[in-house]
Amino acid sequence: MKRIGVLTSGGDAPGMNAAIRAVVRTGISKGMTVLGVRRGYNGLILDRTETPEIEADIVELSVRSVSDIIQRGGTLLYSARCQEFRYESGLQKAKATCERHGIEGLVVIGGDGSFRGAADLSARGIACVGIPGTIDNDIAMTDYTIGYDTAMNTAMELVDKLRDTAQSHDRCTVVEVMGRNAGYIALNTGVSCGATAILTRETGTSAEDVITRIKNTQTTGKHHFIVVMCEGVGNAAEVAKEIEKHTGVESRASVLGHVQRGGSPTVRDRVAASRLGHRAVELLSNGIGNRVVGFDRNELVDFDIQDALRMTKEFDFSLYNVGMDISF
Ligand code: F6P
Repeated sequence: MKRIGVLTSGGDAPGMNAAIRAVVRTGISKGMTVLGVRRGYNGLILDRTETPEIEADIVELSVRSVSDIIQRGGTLLYSARCQEFRYESGLQKAKATCERHGIEGLVVIGGDGSFRGAADLSARGIACVGIPGTIDNDIAMTDYTIGYDTAMNTAMELVDKLRDTAQSHDRCTVVEVMGRNAGYIALNTGVSCGATAILTRETGTSAEDVITRIKNTQTTGKHHFIVVMCEGVGNAAEVAKEIEKHTGVESRASVLGHVQRGGSPTVRDRVAASRLGHRAVELLSNGIGNRVVGFDRNELVDFDIQDALRMTKEFDFSLYNVGMDISF
């Protein structure tokens, strides 16, 4: 393969730039031309490359064009979720764009939804390799996704700050973190911040459970509390109100939101992104597509995309139990 593309798709995640850099540098070192596709699959569908007044969607990336990005959050290729790519018309447009630009292989950095698109495009003759990039860590085929560590550290730092003020006022702070449908960020943030309770879909923790835990902990002389909940399991403000009503502890809610998606990637994210990007291009250079790369206990692995999408991921209940056993 002599000409490949790279794009970032779905929610951005810290470390995506490090992955782009790895893809570009590995590709060039193997004698390939690497094209950056902007704004996810939209770049392949719109293809405004020939419209001088509009920023091109597809640009050649040189060794130097990815200098000074390994430490930056976000993605220099921009990201998007592309509805049209779910339909045959969108896939055909993307295939035609790839053919026009001579793109034989494509590295797709994103989440499950992006991998579905990569499988569909692979089935239409463009060899795609997926790299898991999402703060949610909700991709079953891999233990680890790019951005997860940075997001957890950001959440942890913010909850630490919230604890300072909760402690000063003898309050309970209910913190909502991201994760879409997955409670991994909530679990690790909760354990690392000594949360009295952690609410996720997987654990099914109810507001009543939280109140019971707080009441039990009050008997040990504790006056301030942190409760971490995953987005989508309820409303933080309502949980805070219930806690205040039933425990007498003044309570506040805080929704961390998109701040968790930004910032300079941690060591773990930069290294993971570099390894994944390098492996993805190795696969393409060997003519292998329709794969997704990831980690199994820190070892690189790759799977057929359809097989990867059928896998399921276990929630770490033992970590949850540790957290609950020691936070009172
Ligand atoms: O998948 C990453 C993520 O940040 C989720 O945690 C969250 O549910 C979602 O994206 C938010 O999406 P948007 O940026 O479209 O609001």
